[in-house]
Amino acid sequence: MKLNIALLAGDGIGPEVIDQAVKVSDKIAEKFGHEISWTPALTGAAAIDAVGEPYPDSTHAVCEAADAVLFGAIGHPRFDNDPSAKVRPEQGLLKMRQKLGLFANVRPTFTFPSLIDKSPLKRERIEGTDLVFLRELTSGVYFGERGRKDDGNTAYDTMLYTREEIQRLAKKGFELAMTRSKRLCCVDKANVLESSRLWRETVQAMEKEYPEVTVSYEFVDAVAMRLVQWPSDYDVLITENLFGDILTDEASVISGSMGLMPSASVGTDNKLYEPIHGSYPQAAGKDIANPLATVLSAAMMFEDFGLTAEAKAIRDVVNKSLAEGVVTEDLADGAKAYKTSEVGDWLATNI
Ligand code: IPM
Ligand code: MN
Repeated sequence: MKLNIALLAGDGIGPEVIDQAVKVSDKIAEKFGHEISWTPALTGAAAIDAVGEPYPDSTHAVCEAADAVLFGAIGHPRFDNDPSAKVRPEQGLLKMRQKLGLFANVRPTFTFPSLIDKSPLKRERIEGTDLVFLRELTSGVYFGERGRKDDGNTAYDTMLYTREEIQRLAKKGFELAMTRSKRLCCVDKANVLESSRLWRETVQAMEKEYPEVTVSYEFVDAVAMRLVQWPSDYDVLITENLFGDILTDEASVISGSMGLMPSASVGTDNKLYEPIHGSYPQAAGKDIANPLATVLSAAMMFEDFGLTAEAKAIRDVVNKSLAEGVVTEDLADGAKAYKTSEVGDWLATNI
C-alpha cells in the first residue's frame, strides 16, 4: 500500500516522539512491502514563531491532501501564564479539529501486563481493563457561543449540540461496541443539562438499530467515580467534548503512565493520530520522553488502513520492550533508563 502521511511534530517533546514513530513505521513499511511518504508541516508554537498562526492554511492543505495525519503535541509555557495572549498554540489544535471535521476522538485505556504494578490503582481493580472513550470533538462548550458582558464582569460559554452531531458520534459508538463486548455507556448529565437530555433521547432512539448492544446511561459524576473503582466494567463510552476531555485524562492514569496511551481523531474524510499526552516542555530536547504513546498511535493508524498484522507487529514489539525493561525514565524505576531515541531504535531493530 502507498501511504501519504502528513507529519505534524508540533512543540515540546513532539518532534522527538514523532521521530520514533516514523522510525518504527518505516521499518513496518519495509517488512510488509508498503511505501510511506511523510510530508512535514508546521503547527503550534513552532508555527506561531514561523508564520504568526498555529494552524496555517499551508498546513491545512498538507493535512487535507494526506491519507492520514500523525501529530506530536502542541503547547508552550510562554503562553500558559499569559491570559492576554492573542494567539495560542491550542487554538491551532481546535481549528485543525474543526477544519478537518474530526468529530470523534477515540481514546482507549488498557493495561500492560508488565506494568500493572506501576498504576496508582490496585492490581485487582484494574486487571482486565480495556475500554474506549469516544469523545465528541468538534462541538459542545468548546465551540459554542462565548463572551463577556456587564463590562467584562460576567462571562459565559455555551454547551450546544444538534441531534445530528450526537447521532454521528453515537453511530460510531454503537459500531465500535459491535466489534468489542457490545456494551455502550452514554455519559451525560441529563439530570441537569438540556443538552444532555438531547444526548440521552437521541441515543435511546438509536438503540433499536443495534439490538445486540446493551446500552447504559450514567451521569458523568458517577462515571468519574466508577472509572477508578471498577474500570473493567466499561467497554465503549460515548460522551460530549468537555466531559470526555476530563474523563480521558482520568482514565489515562489507569495504565500507569501518561506516556503510553494513543488516540485517533476521525471524521468523514480525515483521520489524525496522536499521543494523548501534552508537549511536556520540561523534557523538550532532552531525549528522555516516552515515545510509546506516539508509536502506538501509529499502530492505530495502520489498523484503520486495514493493516491489522502491521498494527499487531507494533503492539507486540512495544510489549516486548516493556517486558525486557527497554523503557524511558518514567518507567525505569531505578533500573537503567533508555533514551527516547534508543527506545525507538530498539523497537525498529526488533520488529
Ligand atoms: C486534549 C487537550 C486539548 C483539549 C487542549 C490542549 C485544547 O487537553 O486534546 O485533550 O482540551 O481538547
Ligand atoms: Mn485534554
